[in-house]
Amino acid sequence: MNIILMGPPGAGKGTQAEKIKATYPIPHISTGDMFREAVAKGTPLGLEAKKYMDEGRLVPDEVTIGIVEERLAQPDCAKGFLLDGFPRTIAQAEALDRVLSEMGKKIEAAVNISVPDEILIERMSGRVTCKECKTVYHVKFNPPAKEGVCDKCGGELIVRSDDRGDTVKKRLAVYHEQTNPLLDYYDRSGVLCNIDGDRSADLVFEDIKKVLENLG
Ligand code: AP5
Ligand code: MG
Repeated sequence: MNIILMGPPGAGKGTQAEKIKATYPIPHISTGDMFREAVAKGTPLGLEAKKYMDEGRLVPDEVTIGIVEERLAQPDCAKGFLLDGFPRTIAQAEALDRVLSEMGKKIEAAVNISVPDEILIERMSGRVTCKECKTVYHVKFNPPAKEGVCDKCGGELIVRSDDRGDTVKKRLAVYHEQTNPLLDYYDRSGVLCNIDGDRSADLVFEDIKKVLENLG
């Protein structure tokens, strides 16, 4: 099962990926999570990525394509994978097709979660993430039992640096300009599935499950 989760920042890609993983045992590959981990460790990749992430801009294609190509070659991707936040440009989508075809694979579904911009801003502005286990909460829509503390591991809940101030608006603008054109790309190849993401996370997941069940 080779799947892409698409959608604007704050659409619920990470939230749905957690649910998908619990039902289908395939690795969740989030380029955003990979970059944040590199930033936290202070690696050369992290130092490079941070410059772009803090401004809400995309990390250059050559850097991003390289890390995904390496990740897809890992043995745990042999039976499928769930890409979250990649591809985000036409160049990334073309590179992905090339890499997969060399492996004798192809994308089976590009699941696009759509949500209006004003709701996205509200979602990002209230998001908190566990510093330890990375579980995502929302202070209003999905609050932890105890403020600032992760229900699952007791870790500290923090606000992502790119969820602050004008960066949120910049990320949305970058999405509309550079990533939205990908919907046509996957529509043309016949794998695009549009999901209304402006509903509860459980209802959104019900629809995604129907798409995945049809893949067989
Ligand atoms: P990335 O980490 O991919 O961020 P993003 O695409 O901006 O998406 P988010 O993680 O913000 O949102 P999400 O859709 O996962 O929503 P979530 O489930 O958390 O990328 C960050 C940066 O890294 C980029 O800006 C770029 O710089 C760089 N980068 C990453 N990939 C790249 C690439 N391929 N190329 C170049 N650069 C790249 O939910 C959001 C909130 O809403 C949460 O609080 C959640 O609890 C809540 N929520 C979720 N679903 C619902 C619901 N149904 N109802 C109510 N609340 C909900
Ligand atoms: Mg995410």
